Amino acid sequence: MVVLLLLLFLLPFLLYVTAPQIRKMLSSGVCTSTVQLPGKVAVVTGANTGIGKETAKELAQRGARVYLACRDMQKGELVAREIQDMTGNQEVLARKLDLSDTKSIRAFAKDFLAQEKHLHILINNAGVMMCPYSKTADGFEMHMGVNHLGHFLLTHLLLEKLKESAPSRVVNVSSLAHHLGRIHFHNLQGEKFYNSGLAYCHSKLANILFTQELARRLKGSGVTTYSVHPGTVKSELVRHSSFMRSMWWLFSFFIKTPQQGAQTSLYCALTEGLEILSGNHFSDCHVAWVSAQARNETIARRLWDVSCDLLGLPMD
Ligand SMILES: NC(=O)c1ccc[n+]([C@@H]2O[C@H](COP(=O)([O-])OP(=O)(O)OC[C@H]3O[C@@H](n4cnc5c(N)ncnc54)[C@H](OP(=O)(O)O)[C@@H]3O)[C@@H](O)[C@H]2O)c1
Repeated sequence: MVVLLLLLFLLPFLLYVTAPQIRKMLSSGVCTSTVQLPGKVAVVTGANTGIGKETAKELAQRGARVYLACRDMQKGELVAREIQDMTGNQEVLARKLDLSDTKSIRAFAKDFLAQEKHLHILINNAGVMMCPYSKTADGFEMHMGVNHLGHFLLTHLLLEKLKESAPSRVVNVSSLAHHLGRIHFHNLQGEKFYNSGLAYCHSKLANILFTQELARRLKGSGVTTYSVHPGTVKSELVRHSSFMRSMWWLFSFFIKTPQQGAQTSLYCALTEGLEILSGNHFSDCHVAWVSAQARNETIARRLWDVSCDLLGLPMD
């Protein structure tokens, strides 16, 4: 009985005490680049919270002009001021971008292109996970619409500016969850079958396929692109699932902080000499293995064409 009681009290205590060390062990991968960014321009989508906010903060710390592309302007303005105060960089600007509405994406791009001569770093970070079945303003299933098609359109609209600003980079935040993803071309909008967890996985697979096809198309342009798994990170991503929320809470001592979660995006955006690895997938600041589906060039090309078709974009 005494042993049992001791275990009951001792175990949580020990876990509590050792959690920082365990978390450190599990969250290897730190961006050690010392590159500074005065005169550089960056856009980070979904920068008002979580991984995006920490990514934007670090880019601002290094002197870049950083656009926080957020769907909620109140949150965006608040975070812009917070980052300005923390870093002393006043060129942190919140702008409206709702990736679930192509009109909003086009309006964001139009204003940005009119305002800025350059774009050196585009971080396609925003994301939704496990939403109940819903559609974007343009009728796309929400995960595919926001996580893939929204960023596909945004990148497309900003591509000339990225080329003019080369060397420049596009970082697409994907996930390990892509391993469970499939591109069901006959059910891209989830109308025939829908599972919120799988819908997230499919969209994250699309992020990797997009990165690879984009890298192929941008060869020699000076624009390079990378996909990223940030790790398992304590953020608001699990807001739609009470099961995932309780899992995150239960294991919160062991999962990455948003600042740790931002490291691989920063690594891909900043590390010198990474150009040769354009199109690759990264995790913990190293090249990471992707699923067979994610390495399939035929699917990547077809997804590119279908995405162009859905968004009314020219195919080449
Ligand atoms: N957390 C993890 O463990 C984990 C693991 C693997 C991959 N990731 C990926 O990491 C990225 C960042 O996620 P996070 O963990 O930092 O999640 P988060 O805290 O929920 O942040 C997501 C961001 O995306 C924004 N967003 C959502 N829908 C949007 C829309 N329609 N238009 C514009 N912005 C929108 C959110 O804005 P609001 O605040 O207004 O909702 C928020 O700023 C995501 O792509 C996610 O898939 C995360």
